[in-house]
Amino acid sequence: MEDILVIHSGAGSDQSYNPRLERYARESFRQSGALDSVVEAVRIMEDDPDFNAGTGSVKRIDGTIQMDAAVMTAGSIGSVVNIERVKNPILVARAVMEKTPHVMLAGDGAVTFARRIGFEDYDPSTPRTEELYRKALKILSGSEKDIPERYASYLKYAGIFGIPENKDTVGAVARVSGKFAAAVSTGGSSPMMRGRVGDSPIPGAGLFAGEKGAVVATGIGEEIMRRSLCYSIYHQMGKEKLEDIIKREIDGFRGVLAGVIAITEDSYASYSNSSMAVGVYRFGK
Ligand code: GLY
Repeated sequence: MEDILVIHSGAGSDQSYNPRLERYARESFRQSGALDSVVEAVRIMEDDPDFNAGTGSVKRIDGTIQMDAAVMTAGSIGSVVNIERVKNPILVARAVMEKTPHVMLAGDGAVTFARRIGFEDYDPSTPRTEELYRKALKILSGSEKDIPERYASYLKYAGIFGIPENKDTVGAVARVSGKFAAAVSTGGSSPMMRGRVGDSPIPGAGLFAGEKGAVVATGIGEEIMRRSLCYSIYHQMGKEKLEDIIKREIDGFRGVLAGVIAITEDSYASYSNSSMAVGVYRFGK
């Protein structure tokens, strides 16, 4: 069976990134397995300051950077939530899966764990991060003063802030030797409150992998969580064409930024309701 790695740099990301992602997919594919491939792909994208994950993650309203990442294979999950000051949240998520009895570590507990296993203090901010933060503060200091109220509805929030400026999550799905894996990493969406958690680290929402495939989501995390998007897609795999399943699910977002990449035993597909850069590497055709 052919091995495949599919990666994306977020709903809202410019398709001019496609050649870069094709290269990243080629460089990160590992014959050692689907897990190694998706983790390496996400690590490379975290290190690319043009993407909102790892280095280049967007700031919260208070000026801090908190990141989410997760990895999943059939029956195994590792996830970090609101982790700060590490270079590669995806590597910490993998370590949660492989070195602890837990599935998810959050906040200072995730940071403490990362330090104990050797992840050094690292500032993921970049000049682009600072520029986006300045823009967010300018919008927030505008005519509307009631910030918490703005968060009551993400639809309203998206309308006010023009969310597509945010490049969102990076993610990867792979099928290697018939086994599946999914990985995802994000700095969240800007502007957002400290402590806000999106879909990415939540199994079934931002990612899902099992015996029959793998799915990763990108877009407005609140809407993705409300729909348990990735599990919903996984559940339908094999019942009809993968393209039809993901198109129906994403069209249901009615324009709220959303996209997915997905892979099954015999197909793969990507779909977004806005621009989304994607890279694919196929091995052993
Ligand atoms: N999809 C990433 C987030 O909403 O945080």
